[in-house]
Amino acid sequence: MYIHNKILSIKQINEKDIDLCYELDSTTISLWSKKQWANEFKKEGTKIFGLLSKNLVIGICVFQSVLDEAQINYFVINQKFRKNGFGSYFMSYLIKKCEKLNMKKLLLEVSQSNVTADRFYSRFDFSTVGIRKNYYKDGSHALLKEKKLTTK
Ligand SMILES: CC(C)(COP(=O)(O)OP(=O)(O)OC[C@H]1O[C@@H](n2cnc3c(N)ncnc32)[C@H](O)[C@@H]1OP(=O)(O)O)[C@@H](O)C(=O)NCCC(=O)NCCS
Repeated sequence: MYIHNKILSIKQINEKDIDLCYELDSTTISLWSKKQWANEFKKEGTKIFGLLSKNLVIGICVFQSVLDEAQINYFVINQKFRKNGFGSYFMSYLIKKCEKLNMKKLLLEVSQSNVTADRFYSRFDFSTVGIRKNYYKDGSHALLKEKKLTTK
């Protein structure tokens, strides 16, 4: 798959490449410490995927599945590459993956103040199913989003 002359691949990232995750996180949303990233790699049912162009990390997603429900615990596109369709390509891949695995729904959380991400998820038919008040450090609320999936 090519977008803007970049050959893209999506690969599972192993714990030995934890630095790739930590570096992208540090330069974007700074959600987790290196120790927290290490914990993600050990979590039951969790897989970490990278959207790559050769050695360049364009995006990272932390994906967790429990029975027939999947959850996205982290989803970020490198700042330099936003608004080029990379996020949409990565999300479409994850949705197709869930459908192939016969998942019934896909869940995620997003800050109410993150208008860009909220609009992005709405385009993929995620709807708000709950609110966690004052969930983030800055006091903003978390919106719990859900997308119902069609099983294949
Ligand atoms: C939300 C996020 C993942 C979107 O990634 P992205 O690569 O910019 O996504 P896309 O390029 O596919 O789409 C983003 C917008 O760019 C637009 N776009 C895509 N290609 C475009 C192009 N060539 N020219 C102009 N606009 C374009 C899309 O229409 C879309 O607009 P909309 O969402 O307003 O409808 C990214 O902004 C991000 O990493 N944000 C920070 C982390 C975050 O908030 N994560 C979610 C909570 S954990």
